[in-house]
Amino acid sequence: MRAIAVSAFRADPALVELPKPEPEAGEVRVRIEYAALNPCDWQAAQGSPDEDPTPHAFPLVVGVDFAGRVDMIGSGANRFRVGDQVFGRIAAPTADTGTYVSGTYCDYVSVPQDSVITLVPDDLPLRTAAALPSAGMTAAQILEIAVHRGHESLLVIGAAGGVGSYLTQLASARDVRVIAAVRGDERGRMAALGATATIDTTDRSLEEGVRETCPDGVDALVDLVSATPEAFAARATLVRGGGIALTTRGVAAGAALPADVTGIDFRLEPTPVLLDVLAEGAAEGVLRVPIDIELPLEKAPQALDRNRTGGARGKTVIVL
Ligand SMILES: NC(=O)c1ccc[n+]([C@@H]2O[C@H](COP(=O)([O-])OP(=O)(O)OC[C@H]3O[C@@H](n4cnc5c(N)ncnc54)[C@H](OP(=O)(O)O)[C@@H]3O)[C@@H](O)[C@H]2O)c1
Repeated sequence: MRAIAVSAFRADPALVELPKPEPEAGEVRVRIEYAALNPCDWQAAQGSPDEDPTPHAFPLVVGVDFAGRVDMIGSGANRFRVGDQVFGRIAAPTADTGTYVSGTYCDYVSVPQDSVITLVPDDLPLRTAAALPSAGMTAAQILEIAVHRGHESLLVIGAAGGVGSYLTQLASARDVRVIAAVRGDERGRMAALGATATIDTTDRSLEEGVRETCPDGVDALVDLVSATPEAFAARATLVRGGGIALTTRGVAAGAALPADVTGIDFRLEPTPVLLDVLAEGAAEGVLRVPIDIELPLEKAPQALDRNRTGGARGKTVIVL
């Protein structure tokens, strides 16, 4: 089968031929039709500097999100049937087939039937379903954290990308005010997704923009961008006392936050039930799935490169 894989951490992703995976007991094999791009794809391919992979861990196939049709079932009980349209997210990048590490930028993947995979509703196109898992579930779980604490205003930094586009919609549907911080003139797009205010940080300072909308500070900061504890801590000063500052970049633990602001290092905990909720919202048209770019598998390496430098506007979908 065709796959986009890396032969070592920090190597360039390239198109390769790999054997089709055989489904083991309790697994389903999916003929992937669409995969979606997430920053964790190139982050995983880069590896972390202290990572010491075992020799058989390569090639590593890139990608975690997929949508397609079940084409083979492993032995034993299974809740799926051949022909089912499914979508989901694989555990990344741990599924070692013995000859390579599974991903989703490829023709086939085998996954446990009780993993993060579910049926695609009849009226939801597969390409739309593929764009939901990682970014949609992240947005939904972040919103639950904020709403659970009764927070009514969210400052989202990096709001124009995958997670931000979903979070803005889901939050505004729950009457949470979203202040979307973006780079560039995205006012029209963010307002259409439900943002109360949009701050173009290339045009004015974040502080000035936030003061105008929330003079006493925001209830919650969702920082999808800051890569250092220092940058995150600086943005957390925009949160009012008693509020939260959440990051998806793992930089809260080392950040010197204001004493009365709670820092949260968010980690996605994907579930098939959450996939069902998102798929239902998308099928009913309540949740818009903003697909920005659609491209063939061979172009995926360039798309990964582009995403690393920024500029995402919603989701990029790869056609298999
Ligand atoms: N911890 C977890 O479990 C978890 C789960 C999901 C995602 N994540 C992480 O969360 C981050 C965001 O994910 P995503 O899927 O939304 O990525 P994405 O689709 O690539 O979007 C990122 C957005 O941030 C914007 N951006 C970059 N720098 C900015 C700045 N200084 N000010 C305002 N906007 C800025 C980018 O556009 P411009 O470059 O044009 O500004 C882009 O729109 C990624 O690092 C991802 O790995 C973590």
